[in-house]
Amino acid sequence: MVDDRELPEGERLQKVLARAGIGSRRVCEEMIEDGLVTVDGEVAVLGRRVDIDHDHIEIDGIPVPVRPGLVYYLLNKPAGAISTAADTHGRPTVVDLVPAEPRVFPVGRLDADTEGLLVLTNDGDLTHRLTHPSFGVDKEYLAQVEGTPTRAALRTLREGVELDDGMTAPAKVSTLEPSLLRITIHEGRNRQVRRMCEAVGHPVVRLVRTRIGDLTDRTLAPGEWRTLEIAEVRRLWAASSGDDEAPR
Ligand code: URA
Repeated sequence: MVDDRELPEGERLQKVLARAGIGSRRVCEEMIEDGLVTVDGEVAVLGRRVDIDHDHIEIDGIPVPVRPGLVYYLLNKPAGAISTAADTHGRPTVVDLVPAEPRVFPVGRLDADTEGLLVLTNDGDLTHRLTHPSFGVDKEYLAQVEGTPTRAALRTLREGVELDDGMTAPAKVSTLEPSLLRITIHEGRNRQVRRMCEAVGHPVVRLVRTRIGDLTDRTLAPGEWRTLEIAEVRRLWAASSGDDEAPR
């Protein structure tokens, strides 16, 4: 059998999409026939061949990562691990907790003391997308705080808190227990949740990130990771474009 990849014209689009995990070849053919797939901005026709190293493929306007070697991990970061690729003081980093090859980088940061969900990838486009302040993906945290926030304190957290780098954007805040808050923000300022809680008189005792966009996982133990499914990667991309429709 001829391997499509050896042909100078590239591989058939439906085969590339199926291998990326979008669906069966038949499903992918239907998407192409329905005009949902673009290659470098042009609506693709059935029979189209693509160069997976260079062509930019989208379905419904959301990129499909087809470049060989791209990996996406979801880590439940334990307290104590540092969110950088290498630590100058030799402390354990989040990168030490996932496979060493290919080399990946954390998408944004969690403080050393913060636990919870962190994406690591070697996809620079997605990283840029998710970390750029203008894209504003929702991130949800559980914050165990000192004391019991009053209704006024909760309102301030919701409406915006004056921090030394300016007012925070409105946040979603609910009380799960007297000292346990669920806080959703879309900004990514340094130590933002800790500073917000501190500013209203309730310093954080424990902070866990429980959701990024619509990505959640209650099954990962601290220090465990898993590979993201293609649909999850595409939903993250969609969330960062402000497009709430769940992509295929
Ligand atoms: N807010 C914080 O204060 N710390 C984090 O790690 C993430 C959000």
